[in-house]
Amino acid sequence: MNARKRALILALPLMLTACEWFTDFKRQPSIWTWEPLKDTLTPSRGNPQQSVPTTGTAVAGFQVSYGAFPATIDSMAGIRNPTPVSDSSLANGRKYFQINCSVCHGERAMGDGPATKFGMPGINLTTDMTKGRTDGYIFGMIRNGRGLMPPYNRIEELDRWDVINYLRALQGVNGRQVEVGALAPPGVTGDKVPGPTRMGPNVPAPFFKPRELLSDSAARSAAKVPDSSLLREARVRLDSAKAKAKADSARGITIR
Ligand code: HEC
Repeated sequence: MNARKRALILALPLMLTACEWFTDFKRQPSIWTWEPLKDTLTPSRGNPQQSVPTTGTAVAGFQVSYGAFPATIDSMAGIRNPTPVSDSSLANGRKYFQINCSVCHGERAMGDGPATKFGMPGINLTTDMTKGRTDGYIFGMIRNGRGLMPPYNRIEELDRWDVINYLRALQGVNGRQVEVGALAPPGVTGDKVPGPTRMGPNVPAPFFKPRELLSDSAARSAAKVPDSSLLREARVRLDSAKAKAKADSARGITIR
């Protein structure tokens, strides 16, 4: 074999395969709407403030105003807390409480947060008066704020009930012991800070290919006879799978 032929054979793979040298930045990672960033720790973007939660809401803005008035807060006192006092609820509540509430109310809700050194009245939330409030009342306080307390409506409802469960533990009324204080120094992220929204549409609706629900041979014969009973069966299976997926995704995030 002469040198020319040998060079040609060596160059053959490069000539036959589509090998791009200059991609002009055409190939880039792209992120689809609501797709989480899989290669980073960054959670996907949450839903914007004031958007309609996919899980529904205990009290919509048209039912009870966002005004910071005692009567408005009282009107929410009857709302039932749908979130059981579990370890995960308390752990999540602690994150939100330490970030949002402890600056005024203190790590143990005793009314001794750092802001009280700068003129904020120290409101102790472990008094008999506040212990006697309903969960719905505290929900209303967080939603609307009152007096010098700003509204903390940005804490989404599912997380808000966790804050209430945590506050109840600090008050010693639900019999649970909880850890107090900040989880980590400022700037630490990861599992030390609240996760992404549980209300926003950041999980795409499940899609099922009808053929994938059938066995291989059934799918083949269904493909041959378009309106066969197999296809009808596939539709039934698809519907029940969809219903199951809906029930699964609703479980754990539904406000009962
Ligand atoms: C900027 C300071 C500040 C922050 C932060 C704050 N509060 Fe308050 N909170 C107050 C003040 C002041 C009052 C008293 C309001 C009044 O007298 O109308 C109050 C009152 C309350 C009450 C009513 C107590 C009662 O028995 O009527 C509850 C419940 C409460 N806060 C819970 C919370 C929770 C939960 C958070 C965190 C999401 C929080 N607060 C964050 C300042 C704050």
